[in-house]
Amino acid sequence: MPHPENFAKGLSIGIIMDGNGRWAKKQGLPRTAGHKKGAEVFQDITRYCNELGVESVTFYAFSTENWKRPYEEVGAIMRLFGEYLIKAFDYQKENNRVVFLGERSALEPKHQKLMDEIETKTAHNTGMTLNIAVNYGGRQEIVHAAQQLARQVQEGALAPEDITEALMSQHMYTHGQKDPDFILRPSGEKRLSNFMLWQAAYSELVEMDVLWPDFTRNDLDLAIEEFNRRSRRFGGI
Ligand code: IPE
Ligand code: IPE
Ligand code: MG
Repeated sequence: MPHPENFAKGLSIGIIMDGNGRWAKKQGLPRTAGHKKGAEVFQDITRYCNELGVESVTFYAFSTENWKRPYEEVGAIMRLFGEYLIKAFDYQKENNRVVFLGERSALEPKHQKLMDEIETKTAHNTGMTLNIAVNYGGRQEIVHAAQQLARQVQEGALAPEDITEALMSQHMYTHGQKDPDFILRPSGEKRLSNFMLWQAAYSELVEMDVLWPDFTRNDLDLAIEEFNRRSRRFGGI
């Protein structure tokens, strides 16, 4: 579908990549096949966001609650994370600045090392910011920020009254970034599932019935069009 040249320029988008398991079940395949296809879609949609001039995009890949899944499924997701999200994507070529959101100390040491390397190598890239949320929870992120600030208060470097919304934002994993303009959830679910709780205060929510492994560039166009039709008031009139 043709769209105006600049219709997504400068947008900040959050994407909850959901529906991999249901997609696999529909095809009569194991759930891991859905995660594999979902990881491929992640790569294509990242490239497309680059082409559209999106400012930042955050992909929710694994939540703090997803550890509840069977051991084999968690293992398969982590393997795919290593293969698709860390190694096999040319972040330099795409000129993306990559930031991993979440508590990475629970991840495999070799993955943690690669994540640190990618972040360092891409820190000065001038293109889109690509956030990948792994072992991420919005509540965990807020707790993490509170702990950092409490430490500063304890050391006498900060007074409790100096804790402002802006300072809290600076202690989120997304510090320095614009809050998401909209959060997209495919698979038909209508909930945030602990995604970007702090940053989502005024994000538009766009929910779509398509399962993530079936998600196409055209679906992203439709989501952006839906967002562009919304009237944002931020509490004003
Ligand atoms: C999203 O797909 C991937 C992760 C949560 C890691 P799901 O695995 O949640 O797929 P459904 O919701 O069961 O279909
Ligand atoms: C949210 O999806 C987490 C990710 C997409 C990584 P879930 O499938 O885990 O969420 P619930 O359980 O349906 O709320
Ligand atoms: Mg799900």
